Amino acid sequence: MRAWRRGHSGSAGFVPTMGYLHEGHLALVRRSCEENLHTVVSIFVNPAQFGPGEDFERYPRDEVRDLELLRECGVDAVYLPSAAEMYPHGYQTVVDVQRVARPLEGSARPGHFRGVTTVVLKLLNAVEPDRAYFGRKDAQQLRVVQRMVRDLDMAVEVVPCEIVREPDGLAMSSRNVYLSPEQRAAAPVLYRALCAARESYSAGERDANALRGLVGDLIYPTPGAEIEYISLADDRELDEIEGVITRPALLSLVVRFGQTRLLDNVELG
Ligand code: PAF
Repeated sequence: MRAWRRGHSGSAGFVPTMGYLHEGHLALVRRSCEENLHTVVSIFVNPAQFGPGEDFERYPRDEVRDLELLRECGVDAVYLPSAAEMYPHGYQTVVDVQRVARPLEGSARPGHFRGVTTVVLKLLNAVEPDRAYFGRKDAQQLRVVQRMVRDLDMAVEVVPCEIVREPDGLAMSSRNVYLSPEQRAAAPVLYRALCAARESYSAGERDANALRGLVGDLIYPTPGAEIEYISLADDRELDEIEGVITRPALLSLVVRFGQTRLLDNVELG
């Protein structure tokens, strides 16, 4: 990968993925193609960011289709390292972002962000891009990666990109494929609830508990939906806000349908 990069001077954009690409990924890829001379995409289902009992083994994969989609987008290179290349025998180094990685997904999935930041750093070291593109759907991941890049003085610009949604509002995710037809039909309630809270915020509601409650009340009656968390937190450090919202905030949630965890969020202010 590094040899390829050294042979291709000029700006490079990078989109790290775990494959099974959808329009959300392709929006990042297209933006990178617009903003850079070269675009590199990685496909690597990173074992280090899955906990015991999570879906690493059954995570959806379709490399042939992914490569075809990337070719159609005009991507210059696709990096497909193996797990043995990424974590060879004797491997023992991790990157562990602290405060912003601790709540929410960090607490629900211990070790997850350590796996993400470690692999993202390794991928960035291999690709040496000028810009790296991350979706806002994984809102905490974006903030954790931004923190790592600032703290470790990394020479890359992290470019946040808008969430891409299905026509009914469901945020695109490779894991949506796990949903049964009934679960898929019910899943847009997440975004409806977040939008209702955002409207209430725009109309002047600043009580964090009231907004969390509004989201919960809309989702709770949905058959098959189990709320894992609803968070209204400071947009930068993700400290939960109690009482009145006085600064930009992130309203995020995880709702489980069976074994499938769906994440979504909206930014307030
Ligand atoms: O968002 C993802 O798909 C993954 O967490 C990433 C950034 C590719 C690291 O494995």
